[in-house]
Amino acid sequence: MEQAYAPYSNFRVGAALLASDGSVVEGCNVENASFPAGSCAERVAIGAAITRGLREFVALAVVTEATEPTPPCGVCRQVLIEFAPELPVLCATTSGAEARWSVSELLPHAFTPTSLGRR
Ligand code: THU
Repeated sequence: MEQAYAPYSNFRVGAALLASDGSVVEGCNVENASFPAGSCAERVAIGAAITRGLREFVALAVVTEATEPTPPCGVCRQVLIEFAPELPVLCATTSGAEARWSVSELLPHAFTPTSLGRR
């Protein structure tokens, strides 16, 4: 979260993805002057993990400075469910509030690889 590039929203987000080999891959949000070109912390983390050859994940932590824990956005839910439908998502604030959901809870009735007849 401290590395977040969020000059437009001032909403800094940090994500940490625990992979099944025990490694932790981090991400932060990266905004852009062309607003839709920005990326969420969760997608930055998953992209970095995939780039490292990691495909199996154990948990995701998301931290912000909001007053209440904030769950991943809809686009991030879709990206997460591709790799880890049952992934626990632990969302916390820097003041210590916490909430926890699974990706499937956050995105019920999802369009997944199974929908394309895969896996
Ligand atoms: N953001 C994230 O990085 N993750 C989320 O789960 C929600 C939103 C970012 C996108 C944008 O840079 C800023 O937070 C405000 O929406």
